[in-house]
Amino acid sequence: MAYSEKVIDHYENPRNVGSFDKGDETVGTGMVGAPACGDVMKLQIKVNPGTGVIEDARFKTYGCGSAIASSSLVTEWVKGKTLDEAAALKNSAIAEELALPPVKIHCSILAEDAIKAAVNDYKAKHGATAEAVA
Ligand code: FES
Repeated sequence: MAYSEKVIDHYENPRNVGSFDKGDETVGTGMVGAPACGDVMKLQIKVNPGTGVIEDARFKTYGCGSAIASSSLVTEWVKGKTLDEAAALKNSAIAEELALPPVKIHCSILAEDAIKAAVNDYKAKHGATAEAVA
């Protein structure tokens, strides 16, 4: 199976590889695994607490080329988006952008799950803070 040029580009030059401090109040962390293949993806967002806009993102993926490309692409896409916009991101858009074949669709689903988990983690942190204050 041949990878598309976009997958190879992200695989060879992954954007935003790394991590933020998990305990940072402005960071949301999503860690998900694909049961089918055992690949694991960690995606983190850094949010401006005043505006609710995602200002930066990082990922670390232990997985196939399509999973690495999907997470790299998502870290680029979510910058400048609100939490709700990021959570609404669909794996079909990722799969289309990267021209993923049907057997690699689950790799893009992993990226969708990871960004949703990161947004939920951020919201949970801040929901808890708001309740503690009130
Ligand atoms: Fe499992 Fe790509 S083969 S994430």
